[in-house]
Amino acid sequence: MSLVNIKIEGVPYQVEAGLTILEAAKACGYEIPSLCAFNHGECNQGSCRVCLVEATGARGLVASCVYPVNEGMEIRISTPKATDARRRSVELLLSNHNQNCQQCDKNGKCELLHVAYLTGAREGAFAGVHSETYLDEITPALVRDTSKCILCGRCIARCSNAHGLGILGYENRGFRTFVSPAQNRSFSNSPCIQCGQCVNVCPTGALMEHSEIGKIDAALKAGKHVVIQAAPAVRAALGEEFGYPIGTPVTGKMIAAMRRLGFERVYDVNFGADLTIMEEGTELLHRLTEGGVLPMITSCSPGWVNYAEYNYGDLLPHLSSCKSPHQMQGAVIKSYWAEQQGYKPEDVYVVSVMPCIAKKFERQREQLKVNGIDDVDAVITTRELARMIKRSGIIFNRLPDEDWDTDIMGDYSGAGVIFGVTGGVMEAALRTVYFKLTGKEKDRITFEEVRGHDAGIREASIDINGTVVNVAIASGMKSAKVLLDEIREGTSKYQFIEIMGCPGGCINGGGQPYVRPCFLPNEDDNILDTYKEKRAKALYSEDERQVVRQSHNNPQIIELYDKYLGEPNSHKAHELLHTTYAAREGFND
Ligand code: SF4
Ligand code: SF4
Ligand code: SF4
Ligand code: FES
Repeated sequence: MSLVNIKIEGVPYQVEAGLTILEAAKACGYEIPSLCAFNHGECNQGSCRVCLVEATGARGLVASCVYPVNEGMEIRISTPKATDARRRSVELLLSNHNQNCQQCDKNGKCELLHVAYLTGAREGAFAGVHSETYLDEITPALVRDTSKCILCGRCIARCSNAHGLGILGYENRGFRTFVSPAQNRSFSNSPCIQCGQCVNVCPTGALMEHSEIGKIDAALKAGKHVVIQAAPAVRAALGEEFGYPIGTPVTGKMIAAMRRLGFERVYDVNFGADLTIMEEGTELLHRLTEGGVLPMITSCSPGWVNYAEYNYGDLLPHLSSCKSPHQMQGAVIKSYWAEQQGYKPEDVYVVSVMPCIAKKFERQREQLKVNGIDDVDAVITTRELARMIKRSGIIFNRLPDEDWDTDIMGDYSGAGVIFGVTGGVMEAALRTVYFKLTGKEKDRITFEEVRGHDAGIREASIDINGTVVNVAIASGMKSAKVLLDEIREGTSKYQFIEIMGCPGGCINGGGQPYVRPCFLPNEDDNILDTYKEKRAKALYSEDERQVVRQSHNNPQIIELYDKYLGEPNSHKAHELLHTTYAAREGFND
């Protein structure tokens, strides 16, 4: 690594050559306000001008997010010229911004307000005409409000980087510019997979999840039997909303909070994950031994299912017919559990807490209904659960650790826990498939070959008593496309593929807490590189703590089959736990 000598505010430093001024200043302990720049150049179009500084060798002020350091450079961040320019840049953004912060769900996490604070910018400094704005709240998952968009381009970059999709782009020119799917269509009239990765990087309230908190409030008030279930990845990230370091599992406090919010039962979706493995593992074995369609591809990520339906309609028979874990569990709550309680299914209201925005879309799919009734009635994200807790006055950090309700869906295995990590569904399934093929448990229970936390493809060959199963794992649609094209071309060598919509899996879902270095002074400078790994560790450590680590050994799963479902893939299981898919057009007009 070559170094260059620079000075910041007259103080000498040595920094890595090739860094931008913004990165070099950060490494030396200075925070220059910035807005459009994000994640090591993932987005750095130098458009917002919030990061202007003075630097020798440059004419006038330079955008520190794109201008590189060079030998002998002297950088001035706090001269009157630089601070005035940065303040004016933010005031210009505010002059064309719908600042209804009280009604904005981004309040408290808004980077525009943060840079306004840092620069001393005031609303109204440049009063003038506002550009025409659009509100798209048609989809069940996403809301796009261009009145809050600062045209930073982060969403455009993320959609392309994660998925190669390019759903979002700039429309029009100059003052009339806005960001939207092609020709200002709604998200619902585009091949957007509703993953919410763009929401995760938006610095303002311009892109948000479609909140379902109001519906849950109404169900609780109406006296319904409201049951809540939380996905594995939620516990690994919820603590971040309450000041815990990234990667701190807060399972016990989360359960205590959900109970205090008034839910009749608090269940772990890990039970549903174990059920998924029973069904999916059996389906894979049938396909392997009876000549079914291979490779079989997992189906628990609704972002991925959307992508498949839009882009690979010819490959839909490769998808497992299993519903995702929270849908399976919702179906069991409204049948098995409701019967045990003496409740009618229509009086039971199921809420899922998910790391995922696409689950809001998934729960409304017609193909998932059982006798015309939805498995799940509302989906909230990890962020929305945090909002419900905060507004209820509960002091999360002072809550005792409590345990899940255990009446009929309280047991879960370590296999269910790791569903939240890319490679986790594959590993959980292999533990059960190994047992089914050999009649004995594997000595070394983990399959390290399939672990990882980044997007990209991982592959392994697993020898199970002479039967070699070639597996591959992909997260993010850019990686998935490579595997799917191989299947289409007839060159795929795999029998089983796990695909997750979001890069890194559910721990990095579109509904997880925002990771913003500017709001995380106690985290490492490289937190954007490490947060997925830290959240994944929280789940792997919970797996290691479980006594039961294979889905087929979960006693309440065994009981559910004995008393209600019969056996995996039975007629009853198919009625409740399996689904179908259909190719769709991305644009409907
Ligand atoms: S995006 Fe930020 S500044 Fe705009 S309304 Fe929301 S909280 Fe306020
Ligand atoms: S939700 Fe996902 S697919 Fe849709 S625009 Fe955002 S990043 Fe792209
Ligand atoms: S929608 Fe958000 S991320 Fe996209 S350009 Fe606007 S402010 Fe930036
Ligand atoms: S952060 Fe540098 S121009 Fe926007």
